[in-house]
Amino acid sequence: MSGEISMIGSVILALFLAGYLGQQYLPPPKPRVIGLDLGTTFCSVGVFHPGSGEVEVIADEEGRKSIPSSVSFTTTAVLSGHEAVELADNNPQNTIYDAKRFIGKIFEPEVLEQESARYPFKVINNNGSAEFVISTNHTFTVSPEFISSRLLLKMKKMAERQLDVPILRAVISVPAEFDERQRNYTVRAANLAGLEVLRVINEPTAAAMAYGLHKVDVFNVLVVDLGGGTLDVSLLNKQGGMFLTRAMAGNNKLGGQDFSQRLLQYAMERAQQEFGVPPTLKEDIHRLRQAVEAAKLNLTLNPSASIRVPLHLHTPDSSESPDSSESPEGSAPPPVLFQTAITRELFEELNEDLFQKILVPVETVLAEGRLDKQEVDEIVLVGGSTRIPRIRRLISEFFGKEPNTSVDPDLAVVTGVAIQAGIMGGSWPLQVSAIEIPNRHLRKTNFS
Ligand SMILES: *[C@@H]1O[C@H](CO)[C@@H](O)[C@H](O)[C@H]1NC(C)=O
Ligand SMILES: *[C@@H]1O[C@H](CO)[C@@H](O)[C@H](O)[C@H]1NC(C)=O
Ligand SMILES: *[C@@H]1O[C@H](CO)[C@@H](O)[C@H](O)[C@H]1NC(C)=O
Ligand SMILES: *[C@@H]1O[C@H](CO)[C@@H](O)[C@H](O)[C@H]1NC(C)=O
Ligand SMILES: *[C@@H]1O[C@H](CO)[C@@H](O)[C@H](O)[C@H]1NC(C)=O
Repeated sequence: MSGEISMIGSVILALFLAGYLGQQYLPPPKPRVIGLDLGTTFCSVGVFHPGSGEVEVIADEEGRKSIPSSVSFTTTAVLSGHEAVELADNNPQNTIYDAKRFIGKIFEPEVLEQESARYPFKVINNNGSAEFVISTNHTFTVSPEFISSRLLLKMKKMAERQLDVPILRAVISVPAEFDERQRNYTVRAANLAGLEVLRVINEPTAAAMAYGLHKVDVFNVLVVDLGGGTLDVSLLNKQGGMFLTRAMAGNNKLGGQDFSQRLLQYAMERAQQEFGVPPTLKEDIHRLRQAVEAAKLNLTLNPSASIRVPLHLHTPDSSESPDSSESPEGSAPPPVLFQTAITRELFEELNEDLFQKILVPVETVLAEGRLDKQEVDEIVLVGGSTRIPRIRRLISEFFGKEPNTSVDPDLAVVTGVAIQAGIMGGSWPLQVSAIEIPNRHLRKTNFS
């Protein structure tokens, strides 16, 4: 009797061991659910690999981990991402970007007109919704969700190529401030791309998950997302396994572009001091803009960067020649080399007042969430501009602790969405899950 029991025991043990070894040595199952970050300017797709427990952000053929959020229509094709951007110069009126700013939103006619004036393509009002006018062989309109669907389709295909399995399901992130309608239209865009959406999560929640904050014992998480043109600050509260957005605030006119603009102004003034006239040619200004952008990026790593740009200036000398004085635009004078060094210190001085503005919405969310800054357990930085050392220092000095920065700030959102996709896909080994309680009554405070 006891022998039988121990034999059954051994069989069970053997089965258990076989299962365990099988899990150890069989190739782990491929991810079937993708995580999508559909951004205003860039999009990324990621998956969670159950075997290694790691997130892979999927790269395109050229190794790039995000694609520009642009879609271009030609007489023969609809192109998305980098291919669309390559066409943008020659086909500006049929190359649509920023569709996320329009998706699922009802506009007052005047507001939509003002918005539309900012773009090289035509935006029309269809009973409060935005539509884009495309003129190729014939003229037609497309919706913001159609534009988004082309980007999502491109990312679905990138994932299928990389994983070599068909992908039919996804988790997608949206800004915390998106209302139900904007979320529904984002889901509709995914459906148009042939994807079923298992869950929609907020971008700040995704960023917190990228740092594994759903698995550790933290209550209050502050997420600062500073991109090219906008700042979003969110205060999350985690209880049990659930994240709740307690407060959000931001500035939709503050970002990396503004810091570059200050550097450009400085470079223009230096050129004027040195040569007596400011650069006025469009191409010269374009080249200067590219040079200051490169210098700005360099200054996050190096204490100093240099700008070297040939300029075609109409200096008193060059305009003595009869040609150039008659047609200042037509015949550019010979180039002079403009160079200047920019130290990190100078860059910080030029932007200090803008950097200080970052703390305004931070203080607002703390006040609205009725929280002391000492009660914030973790601070998460998202968006390329949070690489700027002065901004990191400003935030760590304000809170008296270091922010979480180990994940690439451009990929933090997609990393978190991919983790959520792994959880939804029931990946092995089991992950601690986090769910989100949508806060319907929350409004974003905007400073700008
Ligand atoms: C558009 O017109 C071009 C020539 O003008 C033609 O080659 C092309 O096939 C047309 N495309 C469509 C979709 O009709
Ligand atoms: C226009 O929108 C309103 C509400 O947003 C809706 O009630 C109405 O049916 C719409 N009209 C058309 C023609 O779609
Ligand atoms: C969003 O979609 C859900 C489910 O399809 C629907 O019940 C709800 O009415 C929609 N809300 C809006 C604002 O479109
Ligand atoms: C940026 O830094 C690299 C080396 O780190 C250097 O080769 C390059 O010239 C720098 N560019 C500028 C604009 O200073
Ligand atoms: C970042 O997040 C992790 C939780 O995953 C935490 O342990 C760590 O202390 C945090 N802070 C910093 C400065 O990295």
